[in-house]
Amino acid sequence: MPTPKPPAFETLSLHAGQHPDPVTRSRAVPIYQTTSYMFDDADHAAGLFNLERAGHIYTRISNPTTAVLEERLAALEEGVGAVCTASGMAAMHLAIATLLGADDHIVASASLYGGSINLLTHTLPRFGVTTSFVKPSDLDGFRAAIGRNTRLIIAETIGNPGLEVLDIPKVADIAHAADDTVVGEIENWQAVFGNKNITVPV
Ligand SMILES: Cc1ncc(COP(=O)(O)O)c(C=O)c1O
Repeated sequence: MPTPKPPAFETLSLHAGQHPDPVTRSRAVPIYQTTSYMFDDADHAAGLFNLERAGHIYTRISNPTTAVLEERLAALEEGVGAVCTASGMAAMHLAIATLLGADDHIVASASLYGGSINLLTHTLPRFGVTTSFVKPSDLDGFRAAIGRNTRLIIAETIGNPGLEVLDIPKVADIAHAADDTVVGEIENWQAVFGNKNITVPV
């Protein structure tokens, strides 16, 4: 039997991550409005809480509807996984709090959404995380701003408000040359999906 072709981008964007319910045969992804989930018995619950088996425990941690979106985004971006949050600023906070701690440093494009600028300028310094801002086109500026404790580079694919397009591979090369523990967070808020450049790890 010939091997089936891998699903194309268009097919993934409609179907990736969904395993239709065999009982209802619903084509659309159901919206699971639950906070909690049922356990078969104490061993089943223990396995879930110990992360020894896959499944849902509590909706803030994972939910079947959100999981479809996360798996679909990961498939479209050829990533290993995705985490969805309820807002963009929650995503920014989560990424930074996961990756950085006190005394760490960020190099950020100066052309960012205002809420991100406020987070980096006013909120994070209270927790010991500082940021240097660089014009997105200033590659030498990125090189000069990366220091001993830089852990993260933040930029948008298309900057706000000037619509500058970031040269992601060049910025990634600069970060790699400086220190291979520096990672990148690229916000792709107004570019099309499936722009493979945004998956370049910085
Ligand atoms: C580039 C960018 N990042 C983050 C945000 C914040 O997103 P949210 O309003 O969902 O918190 C916005 C909002 O417009 C944005 O444009």
